[in-house]
Amino acid sequence: MCGIVGYIGKRDAAPILMEGLRRLEYRGYDSAGIAVAHMGELRLAKCKGRVRELEKRLPSRFKGAPGIAHTRWATHGEPSDKNAHPHCDATNRIAVIHNGIIENAAALRARLESAGVAFRSETDSEVLAHLIAAMPEHSLDAAVRAALRLVTGTYGLAVLDAARPEAIVAARNGSPVVLGIGEREMFVASDPAALVRHTRSVVYLDDGEVALVRADGFETATLDGGPTAKTPSTINFTSEAFDKGEYAHFMRKEIAEQPEAVGRTLSGRLEPRFQTTHLGGIELAAHELLDIRRVKILGCGSAYIAGCIGAHLIEQLARLPAHAEPASEFRYRNPVIERDTLYLAVSQSGETFDTLAAVQEVKRKGGRVLGIVNVVGSTIARECGRGIYLHAGPEIAVVSTKTFTCTAVALALLAIQLGRIRDLSTADGGRLLAGLAALPEQIDGIVAREPEIARLAEQLVACEHAYFVGRSAGYAVAMEGALKLKEVSYLHAEAYSAAELKHGPLALISPETPTVVVIPRDDLYQKNISTIAEIRARRGPVVAVTHAGEMPAPVDAMFDVPASEPEFDPILLNIPLQLLAYHVALKKGCDIDKPRNLAKSVTVE
Ligand code: F6R
Repeated sequence: MCGIVGYIGKRDAAPILMEGLRRLEYRGYDSAGIAVAHMGELRLAKCKGRVRELEKRLPSRFKGAPGIAHTRWATHGEPSDKNAHPHCDATNRIAVIHNGIIENAAALRARLESAGVAFRSETDSEVLAHLIAAMPEHSLDAAVRAALRLVTGTYGLAVLDAARPEAIVAARNGSPVVLGIGEREMFVASDPAALVRHTRSVVYLDDGEVALVRADGFETATLDGGPTAKTPSTINFTSEAFDKGEYAHFMRKEIAEQPEAVGRTLSGRLEPRFQTTHLGGIELAAHELLDIRRVKILGCGSAYIAGCIGAHLIEQLARLPAHAEPASEFRYRNPVIERDTLYLAVSQSGETFDTLAAVQEVKRKGGRVLGIVNVVGSTIARECGRGIYLHAGPEIAVVSTKTFTCTAVALALLAIQLGRIRDLSTADGGRLLAGLAALPEQIDGIVAREPEIARLAEQLVACEHAYFVGRSAGYAVAMEGALKLKEVSYLHAEAYSAAELKHGPLALISPETPTVVVIPRDDLYQKNISTIAEIRARRGPVVAVTHAGEMPAPVDAMFDVPASEPEFDPILLNIPLQLLAYHVALKKGCDIDKPRNLAKSVTVE
């Protein structure tokens, strides 16, 4: 969501910071700003709108270092020039950029105002600048620590003091901050995407840590000043992973990357010797896995829908009751937490606030929760402490594609492991392992048939509404297909369980409203064929997404995916729906990688 970049070193900060901001654009934002220190003074530029607007506003000689820059996604106060970060103290000496929410901002603001401070914005973040300036401590890091001891809430922040340009200070509580270590220069960011061009050696701050960052190194401490020890880690992907390369959009690139991404999710986790899978990161011994009586999967948006596919797999393969629920609902309904339930928190970014809150609720009540996360070292990954990393590589498009697929694959791995210590036979284990191993090539084959899907998209592009229907795991595929289409093309798309059609939604079927019917080759195949007949009897156009072979019912258009092990049909059937959404959006000229009103990681309530 909001983005932070900071630089300290010999070079001019502005070009590095502006490039960093461009790399954070994918997260979603509504305003941007930058501050650099120059000859003891602060230079500041900020505005509502895109990073390119900010670029236009920068004076030609915007020289100086260190510097900090920010992309803001409004929470407190509308998107506007004055609410954009950085925020400064009254003397324009201290500049602060902040991600997160200061919960006691109103009380702190009242206190500062009664001491004569005049505020220039409506944001909660501005209190930080005034508070730090008001601290008697003589070093910047001590002043920041003292100010943060008065603050309740979440933050990832960076602070610059033009009068003390030998360091910048960063701090984290619930919102990620990573330090990048260069050659006699250092970087600060909320996301490695912003610094991967400059260094791959990084240090992730922990909650409650404050870092004093100089050009030649850094020190970290707790809010009370007690030093903490950090070990740098290496980012294991290159800057190309953050570039579109030959593709027009990140979404299209990430759809194409799925075969390799799935390959990485599977890598080292198949155990053909015992016809099972092995997920070391879950840190659960066989007897602990055997004690599990129920599985509950929590996530938001596509992560939740991937969880629905996973729940279905776990129930099928391990014969354990399994259920997915939106984390955003779960966290608010005072859930009953059971000792013998395994809770799974699914999140690409590992930063989704609702999912994090659900994890904390489970933990607070003594439950056991594992993370299924893509971003290594992210908040949810740390909060869970153990789980399954997807290794899908960076996902830059706001909508998730490759991480959806990799999440379903990770849950399939878990379902097999849970199944093989129960009643799943060695023969079935072997069959499923072979099915998983075949997925990358099968996905590649579907993506290669993009022109067929682009033609299908023509059926939808002129419509105002579209329906997606399926049954059982096919219903989850329909949900994801509809979500993707509405997100990127703004076409009104709704998913219904095919069996529920006649209980209401059938009233909406008309010649102007196409229905995409998801038809795996499972026990419900014939029932889905009847659904097609029901829709066509109301003159509704039908697009069938199914397997090769004769369709026993006439349809208006069809796309077939290769036969896999039936358990993995949902994974393959979803791929053409991703391309369908992409091509409808392309034909409609939408901003595919940054759909309106959406952000890559939703770190607020
Ligand atoms: C859909 C999409 C969102 C996310 C949701 C959860 O394309 O991108 O629905 O799936 O916001 O995000 P993570 O997985 O980061 O928790």
